[in-house]
Amino acid sequence: MSDARFYLTTPIPEPAPTLLRAAGTVVIADEPPDAAGLREICASGEYDVVISQLRDMFDADVLSAAKIRGISNYAVGFNNVDIDAATANGILVGNTPGVLTDATADVTMLLIMATARRAVEADTFLRTGKFTGWEPDLLLGHDVSGRTLGLAGFGRIARATAKRALAFGMQVLFCPRPPGDRPVSDEELGEFAGLVTHTDWNTLVTASDYLSLHVPLNAQTRHLVDAAVLAAMKPTAILINTARGPVVDEAALVAALRSGEIAGAGLDVYEDEPRLAPGLAALPNTVLLPHVGSATVSVRAEMARLCAENAVAMAQNRMPPHPVNPKAWEER
Ligand code: GLV
Ligand code: GLV
Repeated sequence: MSDARFYLTTPIPEPAPTLLRAAGTVVIADEPPDAAGLREICASGEYDVVISQLRDMFDADVLSAAKIRGISNYAVGFNNVDIDAATANGILVGNTPGVLTDATADVTMLLIMATARRAVEADTFLRTGKFTGWEPDLLLGHDVSGRTLGLAGFGRIARATAKRALAFGMQVLFCPRPPGDRPVSDEELGEFAGLVTHTDWNTLVTASDYLSLHVPLNAQTRHLVDAAVLAAMKPTAILINTARGPVVDEAALVAALRSGEIAGAGLDVYEDEPRLAPGLAALPNTVLLPHVGSATVSVRAEMARLCAENAVAMAQNRMPPHPVNPKAWEER
């Protein structure tokens, strides 16, 4: 089929452009569209599939006016799309799971290590000429080996993080669906049976030296970590977030870091990206990365391939390899 029409809100790497051009016509935005622009593109009737980024917000208004068959999101997450509204309007959404799991778990460990051992602060110390020689008490940090890592969530990225943390000699606790719970069988635990401990959310919060978030953003997880949770954490604990910013009440986090209610935070995501909560960037006990969990050359290429495969399938009226809401088409 050569009449498929694709719209990319932002250029994405090869092999996506080649795969998409082989299947149809490709239009790439000069500038990422704003909300009104996105609505217009979706409603124009000129495109079968929109290839989108996390910053492109598909709300019920955009989706009810849209004349597209699918949205292929260049991300594993899809909190930028109102999935219920997409389903109700017969619009399929695709994502890119699996290929960024290890890279994101690597960044989780990076943030644990860098925050615990004050790597960014230490680097600045040296570069600004303050290093005058070895000192018994220079830049002392927190232990990682032997400490307890609490994983909020137990999906792919949490499990890949557990594997790394076990190799570092950490004790690993997990709560599969915070703030609630659900049973996890030994079969589901698989290679982790006997190695990691299932706890409830309250225990995870109070017992962890490192509390790392691996939940999707939804109504249940928005502000999962609020002022009360921060107050319940150990004063020596470090919060790690490579999931989604709004899972944490960022203003409450700044207050907790300032007052010493917790010891530090390593973040790759923010509540109102790309903006940071006032005061966050001034805190020395933080390591702040600009949402780079999946940012390696090979991972971004794999994401591009999955994204294009999803888009081509949707344009050709086939179920894509990674549908988020397959019901959108079943109910047509
Ligand atoms: C990144 O945050 C993603 O969801 O892929
Ligand atoms: C995300 O892809 C996860 O399942 O952790």
